This record gives sequence, structure tokens and C-alpha cells, in this order.
Amino acid sequence: MDSRRVLRSIKVLAQRHLQDLSPTERARGRADRASLLSRFPGLADHAPRRAAVIEVLGADHADYTSRIGHPVHAASLELVAFLLHLIELRAPRRVVDLGSGFTSYALRRFAAEAARGAGPLHAALGGQVGGFAVTSVDDDPAWLGRTRGYLEEKGVSTDDLEVWGQGFDPAARAGSYDLVLHDMGTMETRERTLIEALALANAGGCVVLDDVHKPAFRDYARRTLASRRQPVLSARAWTRDRLTRYAWVALPDTP
Ligand SMILES: C[S@@+](CC[C@H](N)C(=O)[O-])C[C@H]1O[C@@H](n2cnc3c(N)ncnc32)[C@H](O)[C@@H]1O
Repeated sequence: MDSRRVLRSIKVLAQRHLQDLSPTERARGRADRASLLSRFPGLADHAPRRAAVIEVLGADHADYTSRIGHPVHAASLELVAFLLHLIELRAPRRVVDLGSGFTSYALRRFAAEAARGAGPLHAALGGQVGGFAVTSVDDDPAWLGRTRGYLEEKGVSTDDLEVWGQGFDPAARAGSYDLVLHDMGTMETRERTLIEALALANAGGCVVLDDVHKPAFRDYARRTLASRRQPVLSARAWTRDRLTRYAWVALPDTP
């Protein structure tokens, strides 16, 4: 790496850590931890699940982030463990993964193990989850192709890989999913597609918004959710990673 890139990386990391010191966000993270636990009490048992998910997927994640997706783009193992735990707790039938990559692999591998009722991820997540369908979507067809190649290499399903706005029409899919991950495209794309992403969830569905460590996206998401009167809780206690990234969960209308 040349010295200019090194300096830029240091600057970006320093800025992230400064933003991470926001007392409001820290306080919100603590308060919302309690609220999220009262909504989903099973999250109290997250630590052993996270450890087990890291044990099972850690080597794949290290390989993925060294060969395929940069660690800044790929979902953290903390986010992946949280998503898989939500699946254990919510038993979704249909999951949509907006922003393809490592999440597509983790979700599809868990879905395959859940469908056959056996496997290390299935065991890591309590051993009771039944099969569920995963759709992975990207706004970048080339990136989706790269994801397809990775999924083939890993021997998991490559069904239902779709391009946002082409094969995947968000209006036609509104209300179709029990769990939505919104982690797609640039932060501008994230904002532009937020309302459609939220609308993909059905009445009992949750929407996980990654990368709310970014103040501009966080403020935009807060305003958007407030205008929809949709409750949202910070999952910072479960998802904060070493790059200071974390997620929020937009909650369903029904418990
Ligand atoms: C935060 S990434 C999505 C990450 C994905 N959920 C994962 O776990 O790998 C957001 C977008 O960046 C693009 N992308 C993903 N990895 C990338 C990379 N290594 N380089 C460039 N673009 C990437 C994709 O189009 C994706 O929609």
C-alpha cells in the first residue's frame, strides 16, 4: 500500500472511532438493549451462539475477506451471528438479503442445514430451526455475478439471486418477507431504497439496517422510520464490530 492510501485508511479509522464516541448513540445502544431483550428475550442467550457461529464460519469469513470482498464491505461475523440468531428466534419462512456477499453464503448455508435438520450451523443455533427460503438481491449485476461464483464454489444454493429493479421488483415483493437485511449498495443507494426495503417486510417481519454507525444514514433512517411511525431499536449491543459498524432493527407491527 502506498503512503497516501495508508494515511487515508488511518484518517477513515480515526473518524469512525470519533463518531463511535457519540454519547447519544452509546446511551441509545444501552437503553435499546433492554427494549430489544424484552421484545426478543432469547437474545439474552446470544454469547454462546455468537461464539459457535464464529467457530463454524470464522475460517470462511477470513478467506472471503482476503479473496473476495474487502472487510469494509463484507458483513461482520457479529452481524451474521445476530441475523442467524434472529432466524432461530423468529422462525421466518422467507428471508431477503439486500446486498449480496458473505451474508448470502451464511444465510444459504444455514437454510440448507436447517432444511435437513443437521449441520454445525444448525447445531450452533439451537438445532430446532426448520427450512426457510433465501432471496439475495444486489443493485450491481456484476457483484451479484461474483456472489454467484462464490456460492457455487462453496456448494450452496444459487437459486433466487436477483438484480434490484430488474428481476427483483420491490413494489411487487412488498409485504413478502419475514426478515429483511438492508445492506445494499452505496450509502446513497441505501437511502434511496430504504422505504422500499422497509416495505418488503410483512406485518410480523423485522428489517435489519446495517451500517447505522454512519451518522448521515442513521439520521436519514431515523427520520424515515419516524415518518412511518415504525419503531426501531439499536442492536449495537449485539452487532458492533471492530470497525465500529452496527445495526438497527425496525420492528414488526405485531409481536
Ligand atoms: C456492504 S456491501 C454488502 C455486503 C454483503 N451483505 C456481505 O455480507 O458481503 C454493499 C454493496 O457493495 C457491493 N460490494 C460488496 N462487496 C464489495 C467489494 N468487495 N467491492 C466492491 N463492492 C462490493 C455490493 O454491490 C453490495 O450491494
